[in-house]
Amino acid sequence: MLAVDRKRQSLEVGGKIGILGGGQLGRMLALAARQMGYRIFFLDPSPDAPCSSVADKKIVANYNDIPAVLKLGSKCDVVTYEFENIDVQAVIALEEAGYQVYPSSNVLKTTQHRILEKEFVCSIGIKTAPFYPIYTAIDLEKAAHQVGFPALLKTVYGGYDGKGQVKIINLEQAQQVFHSLNNRTLIWEKIINFTKELAIICVRDQLGQTVTYPVTENVHVDNILDTTIVPARISSKVASQATEIAKKIALHLNIVGVFCVEMFLLENDEILVNEIAPRPHNSGHYTIDACMSSQFEQQLRAICGLPLGSPKMLTNSAVMVNILGDHKGDRFFGTTEILANPNVCLHLYGKKKAKPKRKMGHFTVLSDDIKTALDIAEETRKKLSWLETKTKRSK
Ligand SMILES: Nc1ncnc2c1ncn2[C@@H]1O[C@H](COP(=O)(O)OP(=O)(O)O)[C@@H](O)[C@H]1O
Ligand SMILES: [Mg+2]
Repeated sequence: MLAVDRKRQSLEVGGKIGILGGGQLGRMLALAARQMGYRIFFLDPSPDAPCSSVADKKIVANYNDIPAVLKLGSKCDVVTYEFENIDVQAVIALEEAGYQVYPSSNVLKTTQHRILEKEFVCSIGIKTAPFYPIYTAIDLEKAAHQVGFPALLKTVYGGYDGKGQVKIINLEQAQQVFHSLNNRTLIWEKIINFTKELAIICVRDQLGQTVTYPVTENVHVDNILDTTIVPARISSKVASQATEIAKKIALHLNIVGVFCVEMFLLENDEILVNEIAPRPHNSGHYTIDACMSSQFEQQLRAICGLPLGSPKMLTNSAVMVNILGDHKGDRFFGTTEILANPNVCLHLYGKKKAKPKRKMGHFTVLSDDIKTALDIAEETRKKLSWLETKTKRSK
């Protein structure tokens, strides 16, 4: 299915795209793929993953089930992944079998491991929070001495939405945490007293062209992204500094595809890189409604060998708010009231269970100015709720 288009090999309409993971990111990628005329196959351990209703085919299997992953590869023209906590061996197996997969296993290996990720960032001259790798109990004492408190002990693999991290304020507590986590490898990270959290979505294509979106301002609640404000309320100097950081990472990581850089802004306008996510990211959901090309479309363009689209915003400002589940019920309520405001775009991911803090959807407010967008976002928040699911249909 690969057609030669002078300089590039681009995937023809009707080509098949494989995704490892079928959560909301996979679903939004699949929706963009449908719009572009591609077909979607995905692999996910859950039979009713959110991608199910919009994809053409699925394989229900674990990410470390190499034969299943290779089966996905054999059915697709190009494969990608929608989150970084998959087995890197799966991506290596795809590459070794000669299947096209983006971003590469090298990118995944670095970005899914918090120590390798921070070491990479520092190796290209970009700052991170002070950190210390914890392999043995002795490292805890060294870290206490070198990095100090308060700090976070984070698992190096598998964390997301603040999972796998504990705040520590003394050595005794750090030792307890290390033992309770079965002495597994951790990273000790100094807690940063930041003024803002920033993020930037960036995409790099197969020819090395890079496109960056505007810098966003992220507000987390209980370590989970709550609100993204675009453009971030920062000086143009800070914005260009953040953009240069993303471009430098793109180049040195040699990535093909979309990635997000999460950053801390300090009082003196210095930027520290927190994380790199090698995939479309929650801070880029606003691009669906607010930009010429969404981060999902860009991911497809990059992995399919197409020219990149424009990241230009079609509105002065945008505010994205995550809709999380709570303990009240699984039925979403408020759609009519929310959509009564034409500036609000609503996205729901079709998840059946609205478990507490589970990402169930998001809405994006578009406006001429940030203050109005934030006011509308707060009003909109009040209109949504979760209700108990009706057990019997009323006639
Ligand atoms: N070193 C740190 N100092 C201050 N806050 C932090 C630090 N590390 C993480 N956080 C907070 O916790 C959030 C989630 O942590 P992060 O390292 O991004 O993990 P993940 O998003 O993979 O769960 C961050 O966005 C930030 O709000
Ligand atoms: Mg994060």
